Amino acid sequence: MEAMWHHLYGGVVSARVAFGPAYRAAVAPLIAAAVDRLEKPAVHILVIGGGQAHFSRHLLPAVKESLRQVGNKVKIEVTESDAHPGSESGKNQIADMFELKKTFGNRRFDMVVGESVIHSGGPQEMGAILSSIHEILEPNGLLLHVQDVTPPVIWLSRSERTRAAAVEKEKPTLESKKEMAELSKRAHASLVQAIEQEAAKLGMTTETIGARSVRTVSKWPDDDLFAALKGKVNRLDYDHGNTHTSRVAGVPAGQYVTSYSGTVAVVSRNQINLKNHVKAKEFDHYGN
Ligand SMILES: C[S@@+](CC[C@H](N)C(=O)[O-])C[C@H]1O[C@@H](n2cnc3c(N)ncnc32)[C@H](O)[C@@H]1O
Repeated sequence: MEAMWHHLYGGVVSARVAFGPAYRAAVAPLIAAAVDRLEKPAVHILVIGGGQAHFSRHLLPAVKESLRQVGNKVKIEVTESDAHPGSESGKNQIADMFELKKTFGNRRFDMVVGESVIHSGGPQEMGAILSSIHEILEPNGLLLHVQDVTPPVIWLSRSERTRAAAVEKEKPTLESKKEMAELSKRAHASLVQAIEQEAAKLGMTTETIGARSVRTVSKWPDDDLFAALKGKVNRLDYDHGNTHTSRVAGVPAGQYVTSYSGTVAVVSRNQINLKNHVKAKEFDHYGN
């Protein structure tokens, strides 16, 4: 079981450790922009699959700082939930994302945030997850989905999975790493497609921001490199196009390690154009 979890989520954990500060600096302004866009004096956020309360512990302070910078004094209330109790914080409300109404009844939330969560049911279950979320959202509410790594076993076709397994067994080379990056890009794309399709069935729109791909691979991080990079990633360029590119201290000038791929999907009843709403000042956060 542990091996299975490592297989599924080892990449998420490694990426989160190495890219943690950069990830937070890139994602927090987007969440802040979504809160700002709601234009309410108080916003209630439900975190699903919150695990060890990563959102409250690491993202929320940065979100509040972003809002403070643009003069928004909104009051933010957060409910952390997960299918399992948070082993560290012990603060999670138990809620299955497939049956949120069962836990929350008629309560409604302005925003649902899932960090690497709604992908876990695979394409067949995306409709059930989104409709469960839809039921507990305010009429103008939105879902903010952030994905670090999309596990290939869930989001690739059978032939792509077979190819991925074969590539994984080869001695790693730059070429094989590039091929894995390409497969990872496909996994992201199929996750986004499922979100877009199922959201549309519910009459919701999706705005997808962020990375689906990797470019300019000069050196591809493996677990050792991730460990070596810990705390050294100083910037995550977030171009609102297709890539997250991280410049890493210690990598010769002009070279990039492009390893972090991720997706942010915003599902809402109204088209909210989040990327246009991120205020210029907030970009300062991650060093534009
Ligand atoms: C990859 S972890 C992400 C944890 C946290 N969001 C983070 O970013 O650190 C996925 C989380 O989803 C939770 N999860 C899995 N299935 C779930 C379900 N049906 N309902 C609610 N949470 C679920 C797991 O317990 C786990 O905490």
